[in-house]
Amino acid sequence: MSHSPPSNRRSPGISYQELLDTDTHPVPDVLRLESPRDLGSDDISIDRYISRDWHEAEVENLWRRVWQFACREDDIPEVGDYVLYEIVRDSYLVVRAAPDTIKAYPNACLHRGRRLKDYPGRCSELRCSFHGFAWALDGRLANVPARWDFEHVTDDEFSLPECQVGTWAGFVMINPDPAAEPLADFLGDIDTHFDRWDLANRYTQAHVAKVIDANWKIAQEAFCEAFHVNATHPQILPYLGDTNTQVDVWENFARAISPGGTPSPLLDRTPTQDEMMRSMLDVRHDEDSPRPVGEDESMRAVGAAMSRDRWRPIAGDVVDGWSDAEMMDSIDYTIFPNFHPWGSFNRIVYRFRPFGDDHRRAIMECIFLAPYQGEKPPNAPVHWLDETESFTDAPELGTLGKVFNQDLFNMARVQQGLETTRKPGMTLGNYQESKIRWLHDKLDQWVKGGSRGGG
Ligand code: FES
Ligand SMILES: [Fe+2]
Repeated sequence: MSHSPPSNRRSPGISYQELLDTDTHPVPDVLRLESPRDLGSDDISIDRYISRDWHEAEVENLWRRVWQFACREDDIPEVGDYVLYEIVRDSYLVVRAAPDTIKAYPNACLHRGRRLKDYPGRCSELRCSFHGFAWALDGRLANVPARWDFEHVTDDEFSLPECQVGTWAGFVMINPDPAAEPLADFLGDIDTHFDRWDLANRYTQAHVAKVIDANWKIAQEAFCEAFHVNATHPQILPYLGDTNTQVDVWENFARAISPGGTPSPLLDRTPTQDEMMRSMLDVRHDEDSPRPVGEDESMRAVGAAMSRDRWRPIAGDVVDGWSDAEMMDSIDYTIFPNFHPWGSFNRIVYRFRPFGDDHRRAIMECIFLAPYQGEKPPNAPVHWLDETESFTDAPELGTLGKVFNQDLFNMARVQQGLETTRKPGMTLGNYQESKIRWLHDKLDQWVKGGSRGGG
């Protein structure tokens, strides 16, 4: 059922749905959905960011049981291609076993346990480099050197154990738990949301990774609300309706849509349409210098038209069916627990994980999934930023690098603050931060309850 949050929780200014009424193009049904969720107002215990016990419970009850984004299908295009997907202490081999079959195995030899593979690559069989035990790509035992000494090893019992594997929108998702619900059940009706944006039919234009000095949830939550924009990214307030963000929660996914080309209600003075345009061009270092935008015009519509012009050479005339909203807004989906594919044409996908076994550090990744014209370009390799580098050292991120650096500036300081605070819980806004509350509600079900989250 669609219902609006109580009016006393609404930010002043135009609502997202009212803004959609002004669109110059047909608005897709998916943007008309509203699913606010009242999950209470209790503080969130800070243990889950700082305690080793919580981290261990996450390993057992979350990371070893939940569906998670491992790679893109086109990262392993040929039979025999494999990548390593690593999460906390676990390493998994994700292998294209046949043209239409992807398998995932714990990355460990069944002889004396050596990791089977150390780097991504292509192979005709999975051979261990310690004593040479080998498995076919489909996991069947293929070779035991000096077999006479292993008459107690039967082929059947020596097949590689498998994780569950599923694909969605070109993403390969794995679940280490053989008893987990199928991926399609876990994802619910997410296809009805992404149908139109066809993320399968894209390539990895950029892939940037950085180790962050904070728990993975602190890093992730920096991207789960627009409330921080007023203090962290004030430069974008003139053209971002930060507190007008619409937040929707379903079962295993949620979204926050922040409207562009509309001013922040937190500004003391409403900027003119032309001032909005100038600030956007400044922030983006955009060379485009269109004529001044008149007060009788809408900067949102003019900005959307500019964006369609930019996409037309790549995507073709289909752009003329895309709404202003799809051209201007940040449509940030989150699939529990750590996977953030954006809707529409923003190209962004985030993933956040613990960095190895360290609960005080995380890996943040930003992937750009871009449409292309003609032959599919090769996927960009992962560009790891080292600890001396910031996001502006990844020029492929464009002007997002500066924005990420502003976010980065907070993350380690949140960890430090949570380690020192005497306040046992974190307090959340009821509406604007409800995606964060939803994430913790899910974590309660998975990590604390040890249940599989109830589907
Ligand atoms: S540990 Fe792999 S062959 Fe011995
Ligand atoms: Fe931010």
